[in-house]
Amino acid sequence: MMLPLITGWVLYMAACLFSVWLCYTVYPPIVLFFRQWYHLNYLVYTQAHMIWGHLHIVQATEEAMLATIAYGIKNEITFSVTWFGPFIPTVWCYRPESIKAVLKEPKTDRLYHMMVPWIGTGLLVANGDKWFRSRRLLTPAFHFGVLKPYIQVYNECAQILINKWTKLTSSNESVEICEPISLLTLDVILRCAFSHKSNCQNTGHQSPYVQSVYALSKILTQRLLFIPHQSDFLFYLSPSGRKFLRACKVVHDHSEKVIRDRKAVLEEQIMKGEPIKPTSGRKYLDFLDILLTSKDEDGVGLSDEQIRAEVDTFMFEGHDTTASGIYWTLYCLAKHPFHQQKCREEIRTVLDDRDCIEWDDLKSLSYTTMCIKESMRLYPPVPLYFRNISEDTTIKGHLIPKNTFVTIAPIGLHRQPDIWENPEEYDPLRFLPERCEGRDNFAYMPFSAGPRNCIGQTFALNEEKVVIGNILNKFSLHLDDDHVVEMVPEIILRAKYGIKLKLELLKE
Ligand code: HEM
Repeated sequence: MMLPLITGWVLYMAACLFSVWLCYTVYPPIVLFFRQWYHLNYLVYTQAHMIWGHLHIVQATEEAMLATIAYGIKNEITFSVTWFGPFIPTVWCYRPESIKAVLKEPKTDRLYHMMVPWIGTGLLVANGDKWFRSRRLLTPAFHFGVLKPYIQVYNECAQILINKWTKLTSSNESVEICEPISLLTLDVILRCAFSHKSNCQNTGHQSPYVQSVYALSKILTQRLLFIPHQSDFLFYLSPSGRKFLRACKVVHDHSEKVIRDRKAVLEEQIMKGEPIKPTSGRKYLDFLDILLTSKDEDGVGLSDEQIRAEVDTFMFEGHDTTASGIYWTLYCLAKHPFHQQKCREEIRTVLDDRDCIEWDDLKSLSYTTMCIKESMRLYPPVPLYFRNISEDTTIKGHLIPKNTFVTIAPIGLHRQPDIWENPEEYDPLRFLPERCEGRDNFAYMPFSAGPRNCIGQTFALNEEKVVIGNILNKFSLHLDDDHVVEMVPEIILRAKYGIKLKLELLKE
């Protein structure tokens, strides 16, 4: 008598639980899919495949990406849409008005969470109050007084590269420049973040730490482009996922040790009542010194875990990006010898008889700065960044449903013909102050814009000017006509087959 009753109750409870589970897990994504399909599908630039969506076409190739953007430009629409597989659309924004509308939205977990095992919830991935507090505590680390002594570091690292390249000029062969420049910018950030002299430019990736930072950037990029690995479960089961976790451990162990040791030294200085000063023969305070001593108005600083997250964030965000900015500028200057020569003349006038570029020289490098800006217009080092729409949003009459994933594409924005006359032409003079007048503030965004803009942009621009200035002072750059240069918009804008240039050593 009791048994059927109990069975009935159990079945009833199971049915209730199943319905609740359906409501919270299955039902919302289905509703979201139909809303997205209804509101966005008419904005696709070409018919989506039933299974792959536009994945088989997009796969982050230059042509597909530019085709998506070209479709928007041709049809004068504010954005277009592609499908990642059958269920996930992304809205591409490449007009100032659409970017302005979505830039304030939070970062999407879908992509940024993949970085968390490495860079924690540092500034790049944090949202809300956590981001706000970290941004306030980190801002002093990029004050010009802190950045000024780094000029010496940029010069030293550029000199190492120049010595390496000088030896190669005798062979008359063209030289691949992307890898050595990535090592240079890694060398710079290691020295500026925590005064680590890795010698990586000469020894390559021999140090386990350098090897791991390099591997992490690479695996992250591959993961983004390989849809099955968007699932944590499948990714961490794969050899790449396991390699990623091993590399995270190496990087974290290293950062933790450096933080522990430095903290002990700083605490000793504070106990003795001494002012905070650089240790071990350094002439400058590095980012780690600043992070360890920064406090909010309640006297509370960053925890060790937060400091580690920020140091790791600088490693990730601060080396490949700057490298991309440098090698694409060198490529543009090799392609446009007239502008190259103008930069060289400016640099030599500023240097006079000196070898090194100094802090006060930077403001006089206006032509070189315009060339760097123009190169980042055509080749933005961060070609895409992402947001998640938090509420239904209507832009120019198009509704984007809540929880839609949005791609902001400076690479498209910077080629809009109504904003940039002859957009494909390399014309640094478009950055003359009089020609910038009246241009929308959101028309040029290599470093993003608004409160979540790049905190490291002055650091990066200074580094680019010093490295490029040193190189142009020593070498004349020429294209290798047999080498194809093609951009691949991944996390960073890379060159598919690298960039090869002929380097001609100049007389003093
Ligand atoms: C040419 C070099 C660089 C470019 C083009 C660049 C570009 C960007 C862009 C577009 C963003 C916004 C990303 C987003 O919204 O998802 C960003 C954010 C950020 N960048 Fe850079 N970056 C460069 C160099 C650096 C350097 C050298 C550092 C540090 C040393 C750095 C640290 C950061 C951090 C911490 C953020 C997050 C800021 C926040 O959300 O408050 N970047 N960068």
